[in-house]
Amino acid sequence: MDIFEALLESHERQRAICRRLLTAIGEPGPRRQALDDLKAEMAAHETAEERTFYVPLIEHDETVDAARHGIAEHHEMDEMVEDLDKADAGSPGWLEAIGKLVQKVEHHLQEEEQKFFPQAREVLSRREQKALGEPYREEHERLAAKEEEGQEREH
Ligand SMILES: [Fe+2]
Ligand SMILES: [Fe+2]
Repeated sequence: MDIFEALLESHERQRAICRRLLTAIGEPGPRRQALDDLKAEMAAHETAEERTFYVPLIEHDETVDAARHGIAEHHEMDEMVEDLDKADAGSPGWLEAIGKLVQKVEHHLQEEEQKFFPQAREVLSRREQKALGEPYREEHERLAAKEEEGQEREH
């Protein structure tokens, strides 16, 4: 699995969790579970993606701006998640914030796939593309396990 296939696998997982979250929006239990899953998946994906994909792309003039933009969006999404935690679950403001977060996530994934990945395919050699897949998956798995542990302690 090359880096793009590995990243896409994570993106699809996030999309599926977003759909589950919206479907369960009226049910406090399943909705909380879906939101916890989304937070854990986003945190693991963002960090693993930055470390194994964005960092090598920062080295290239052609992709430095797009990489910076992607990292800035990760930061924005993290702040949206933090704001959600401050709002009262189920309140109108909270529901609105969930809608905005899901929209932002979908925008970010689409932008990466349609604008950023094609540029990255041009600057990374085929060998690099293949070599980065496994480190991404390992880092993602390690971070996801850590997130899950943290959530278990919180509840
Ligand atoms: Fe990203
Ligand atoms: Fe991504």
